[in-house]
Amino acid sequence: MDIPFSTWHPAIKKRRSRRRFDPNLPITPETLAALDKVCNQFAPFPSARSRLVIESTESVFKGIIGSYGKVKGAPAFIAFIGNMDDPFVQERVGYTGEGIILEATALGLNTCWVAGFFRPEIVTSLIEVSNKERILAVTPVGYARESESWEEKLMTRFGRSHNRLPLSKLVRGLPKEQWPNWINVSLEAARLAPSAVNRQPWGFNVQDDSITVFVRTSGPEFNVSKRLDCGIAMLHVEVAAVNSGCKGEWEFFPSPQVAKFKIRP
Ligand SMILES: Cc1cc2nc3c(=O)[nH]c(=O)nc-3n(C[C@H](O)[C@H](O)[C@H](O)COP(=O)(O)O)c2cc1C
Repeated sequence: MDIPFSTWHPAIKKRRSRRRFDPNLPITPETLAALDKVCNQFAPFPSARSRLVIESTESVFKGIIGSYGKVKGAPAFIAFIGNMDDPFVQERVGYTGEGIILEATALGLNTCWVAGFFRPEIVTSLIEVSNKERILAVTPVGYARESESWEEKLMTRFGRSHNRLPLSKLVRGLPKEQWPNWINVSLEAARLAPSAVNRQPWGFNVQDDSITVFVRTSGPEFNVSKRLDCGIAMLHVEVAAVNSGCKGEWEFFPSPQVAKFKIRP
């Protein structure tokens, strides 16, 4: 499936993690069918896939302390599944999953990447998973309560979730004055990517025809690979590049580099 860049690019700015859903607002069968279709069709790498599960999600999500910080009230969730034989599985799951998250956002739904605080054993009891595969993350889907609950406000403050680092802290290589337009737009989109506890572990090395994503930060991963976060930023890079008229390809690298997006001449 080609990236539907004209709907996904505006969704980058619109998306925000939401954790409290309105149980009185069900998702229509048409919207669920559209989401399910994209889960099945947006699978650019054989080692990464997404599955929509239409089930009450209460038992899937865990609280951070007791039930504090728990995702509540969503009528469905999506599991992001990776085949662990692939050395690039984390970034490929991040890239694929973020496509689905942007599609859900464009459909008017709310989401929240959750990689630490869910129960994989409950998810694997609901979908078929091979012994090489792992559920790397999930997202609730549904319609968020109109106003943020006090707990949600505290959670977002705890994650300082809407702050993002300036590009000056993230970018190396070609000086900003020499960036072509597609680089400007793509890096701005990458900067807005979500990451676990908003840690923004990515860095970008810029050449005039390419952007290389690398892991910029050192320190513990807390069971969630920084390469998964980088995969999310990669999808944002490509969506914005294609929306600016520049198509290209990814080349994957071992740590601490992640992948290079080079545009076609
Ligand atoms: C890989 C990943 C894992 C995450 N895990 C959790 C989680 O376990 N619980 C949670 O409440 N939020 C989780 N988040 C959401 C982040 O806290 C959130 O994306 C970040 O603070 C940025 O906020 P925003 O998404 O509203 O822009 C996760 C995000 C990512 C990308």
